[in-house]
Formats: sequence, C-alpha cells, structure tokens
Amino acid sequence: MLVDGLLSGPRSVGAYQTYGGFADYAVAPAAAVRRLPAGLDFDQGCNLLGNYETAYHCLVTCGQVQAGETVLIHGASGSTGLAAVHVAKLLGATVIATGRSDDKLAEVRAQGADHVINCRNLDGSPGVRRFRDEVKALTRGHGVDVVHDGVGGDISLESLRCVKFGARFLIVGWAATPAVARGKGLRGAPNANMLPTNLIMMKGLTVRGCPTVLSTLHDPSIRAPRLAAIFQWVEEGRLRPHVSREFPLSAYKEAMLAKWRGEFVGGCVLRP
Ligand SMILES: NC(=O)c1ccc[n+]([C@@H]2O[C@H](COP(=O)([O-])OP(=O)(O)OC[C@H]3O[C@@H](n4cnc5c(N)ncnc54)[C@H](OP(=O)(O)O)[C@@H]3O)[C@@H](O)[C@H]2O)c1
Repeated sequence: MLVDGLLSGPRSVGAYQTYGGFADYAVAPAAAVRRLPAGLDFDQGCNLLGNYETAYHCLVTCGQVQAGETVLIHGASGSTGLAAVHVAKLLGATVIATGRSDDKLAEVRAQGADHVINCRNLDGSPGVRRFRDEVKALTRGHGVDVVHDGVGGDISLESLRCVKFGARFLIVGWAATPAVARGKGLRGAPNANMLPTNLIMMKGLTVRGCPTVLSTLHDPSIRAPRLAAIFQWVEEGRLRPHVSREFPLSAYKEAMLAKWRGEFVGGCVLRP
C-alpha cells in the first residue's frame, strides 16, 4: 500500500495534515491508502505520486506537450526533473536535459534524455554559462517548443534565448533560489525571479505557472485523468521511478541533507 500525499499529510486538505511519515508506524485515513501498483516495489512506489503527478501536470495539463516536440528540462537530475524526463519521453518528445554535473547528467541520459547540457560556468563561478547555441544546434536552429523550468534564476533568462516563436515556458520551481517560495510571498518576495517582458512579447511566448497541488485544489477534476495515465504507464511497464539512494530511518538527517545538496539522481527513500 502507499499513502496519497494529496489526501493525507502536510500538503493535503482536510483533517489529516500533520507530518508523521518518517516513522515505523503511521496512521492514515482509509481514503488516502492506495494499493501499490503491480510491478513497482515499495521504493519505487514512494517516488511515484508526488514526482510523476507534478511532471504530468506541468507537461500535459499545462504544457500540452505533443509527440515530436522538443522539451528543454532544467534540474533534470532532481526528483521532479527526472520524472519530467520520463514523462516527456512517454509523450514522444525529444528531451534536452540540463544540469551541473557530468556524472549526474550521464545518469539522466541513461534514464532516457536524448541530449544533455552541463550549464555550469567553466570557471566554477556561480550562475549558468551561455548554452543557447548548443540548444539551437540540437534543434536545427529553431529552438525548443517547451521549457520545463524547475531551477529558476539565471537559467530562466538563458532559456528565453533557446525557444522557438510561440514556445511554452513552464514555471515549475526555484531550485536555484529556494527562498522565493518561502513566507507566502512575503519573506522571499524581494528575491523573486523576473522574466523580461520584451523577450516574452517578441517571441510570442506563453508563460505558465504550474503549481500541481494548488491547481488540483482549484479544479479537482484534473486529477483523475492524471492518475489514470500514470497508473496505466506503470501497468504497461513503461514507467519505473528511478531510486538511486536509500537510507535507514535513523539516518533521516543525512537523507534530507543529501536531498538538499542534490547528491543523487531522481528518487531517494528512507527505510523504516
Ligand atoms: N510545480 C510543482 O507543483 C512542484 C512540485 C514539486 C516540486 N516543485 C519545485 O520544483 C523544484 C525542483 O524540485 P525537486 O524535488 O526536483 O528538487 P531536487 O530533487 O532538489 O532537484 C533540483 C535539481 O535542480 C538542480 N539545481 C539545484 N540548485 C541549482 C542551482 N543553484 N543552479 C542550477 N541547478 C540547480 C540540481 O541539479 P544539478 O545538481 O544536476 O544541477 C537538482 O538536482 C523545487 O523548487 C520544488 O520546490 C514544484
């Protein structure tokens, strides 16, 4: 069985919003308990709903990604980023994945990305290097159809130079500037990422914010088709969450730090 984080736990609505999953035993409402899909082990099951529902919401519900399109995915080694790589490939898209580590990018490529770009500055300074020419070369000079941006900051600005006219720019998260999301828009607000309106205007871009949980609260009907698609991919054996690290429950602090530092690709589990 696995527990549905939209129906129980801190991101849910209703009477079961408390933390408490890092435990040998936990209580969840019956309505939030789902059968582990056939073909998945518990480690993969732990990494299914949050990551793949986010990827589906961003790429399908918001991005309307079509087979044959090219998607530029930032933070592709991360939990939601790698899920986006998997979902984009299932949709028939070509994936260009970015990251800052050659080793992690090799793993991302082994997980299905068609092309990888290390966007780290060659001299080690913060920010990202210019990579628009590589993206243009990979897209025969056209640029990508869709940007899936879970990183924000400098990489968003460089991405605006990598898109074709009329592209969709999906704002997924801010891994590079995590304080943006803190404090209900108050404490983080001065650091908010900004996109230049001239490029958005002249390239005819659609910029779309993609908050999965909030969108689902506003329109609960978007969830059933999302879950149906994800479970079908799993049942067909076409989707398997990638779990690259596991920790005993007693090492929860090391696990959280490893996640914070981006030390692994894709998913991670705590074993009670
Ligand atoms: N829209 C939604 O509904 C939704 C849902 C879940 C999460 N999110 C958000 O999406 C973002 C990613 O979440 P996640 O769980 O995938 O995080 P994660 O597992 O920590 O992965 C983030 C990835 O971003 C890259 N990154 C981190 N800091 C960076 C920096 N300073 N510059 C460039 N790249 C950096 C890292 O890849 P490399 O080390 O390979 O560069 C890292 O693997 C977060 O902001 C999260 O809050 C949004």
